Amino acid sequence: MSSARVLAVEALLQVEFDGAYANILTNEILSQNDLSSADAGMFTDLVNGTLRWERYLDTIINYCSSREIVDLSDEVRSVLRLSTYSYLIRGTQAHAIVNEGVETIRNLDGERATSFVNAVLRRITERTAEEWRIYADQRVEDADQEAIMYSLPNWIVKVFQSQIPDQLERIALFEKQNQPPSITYLRRPGTETDTTGLAPGNWSPYALREIDKKLSRQKLKTGELTVQDEGSQLTSWALSMALIEGPDLNWLDMTAGPGGKAVFLAAIAQMRGAKLVANEIHPHRAELVRNVLRRSELNAEILIGDANFGAWAPKSFDRVLLDAPCTGLGALRRRAESRWRRTEKDLADLVIGQRKLLRSAIAATRSGGIVGYVTCSLHPRETTEIVLEAAKTHKIEFVDVPRLLPGIPLAPGPFLQLWPHRHDTDGMFMAILRVE
Ligand SMILES: C[S@@+](CC[C@H](N)C(=O)[O-])C[C@H]1O[C@@H](n2cnc3c(N)ncnc32)[C@H](O)[C@@H]1O
Repeated sequence: MSSARVLAVEALLQVEFDGAYANILTNEILSQNDLSSADAGMFTDLVNGTLRWERYLDTIINYCSSREIVDLSDEVRSVLRLSTYSYLIRGTQAHAIVNEGVETIRNLDGERATSFVNAVLRRITERTAEEWRIYADQRVEDADQEAIMYSLPNWIVKVFQSQIPDQLERIALFEKQNQPPSITYLRRPGTETDTTGLAPGNWSPYALREIDKKLSRQKLKTGELTVQDEGSQLTSWALSMALIEGPDLNWLDMTAGPGGKAVFLAAIAQMRGAKLVANEIHPHRAELVRNVLRRSELNAEILIGDANFGAWAPKSFDRVLLDAPCTGLGALRRRAESRWRRTEKDLADLVIGQRKLLRSAIAATRSGGIVGYVTCSLHPRETTEIVLEAAKTHKIEFVDVPRLLPGIPLAPGPFLQLWPHRHDTDGMFMAILRVE
């Protein structure tokens, strides 16, 4: 059986070269390898943490290596990154790091690079993690300072610098984005759940946090719980709580895959005698929606198709959720590699899609009905700018979303913006548009 470290390096190589998603890949590898729970936890953290901290780790490795990191073999680069992450961020002992790093490269690549890896890791362990931070902080160019020290691409740092002018607060956000998110579950609305091994969430009445892994994992199998960030729960909750006049029987989730919010909405719809239609463009993601609803014993009509050409009549829904595809800048802590894959060009393309989908959502909503526009983003171009632009060309008014969520410290409405460092949720945005 391969060690957790060798498996982690193999996972890093698949993420870098095969475009694998770390969260899906780590689960697959864990299901194929019989690791103890301590090793499984270490494996997952090594993969995600090394990916998140990549730019900072490369900077330190470059200070200690006779060759630039980009010129190293893929295996050597990955082993050095992983060992440096273990040492600088996880706090593993210096002597263990050197021995384990050499052993891991030997396992993957034979003897030829062992002395090089040994030399670089010895140099890195000559300073403590704190000493390296001070050293690097003095050496990096001012323009790259936050991006290197908090391991982000420069363009993403610039977005946050314009959003959060206060540097201390910005750093609190960067630090939060570099930590693994705590696991939060959605308790299916309308059912009683035995909460042994679970603690209440911070904000959502349906959120539970994991205390005992074994107990909560059992409930996942039965569909009593689904994994869902509290920010996502709050958006579905707000959409279901906004008052509307007249009939309230037809609900639409326009872009439903993989089905997290569809579970929440289907459960509330069922309690109120309403019906949910869950639409998704990709058949395999529509299948995920079908499965999660089945596991949770909930009903919804599943449609597969482009929501811009929806298989429904105009103005036929009372409540519509548009959880639009976005850069995911609000969920960087959850998708470890995404900060290195996303580009400004993606942002421009996504914004075009978001505008179009919002027009289609408004067209699908009856007069007096509402559209919840949601993105897991902190970028104004895919949050406020999209809905303010729609307000110029459509007869809509905004519902005050923070007023639907009392007890949560939020900026004044009408929009909702959740922040990882303020709310310990993903950075979710929501606007609710009432269609005239
Ligand atoms: C942000 S995700 C939705 C997450 C989902 N609401 C949940 O909570 O699990 C966006 C989804 O929209 C789907 N999608 C993208 N463009 C679409 C379109 N034109 N019509 C329908 N679905 C679309 C994507 O495949 C993706 O599954």
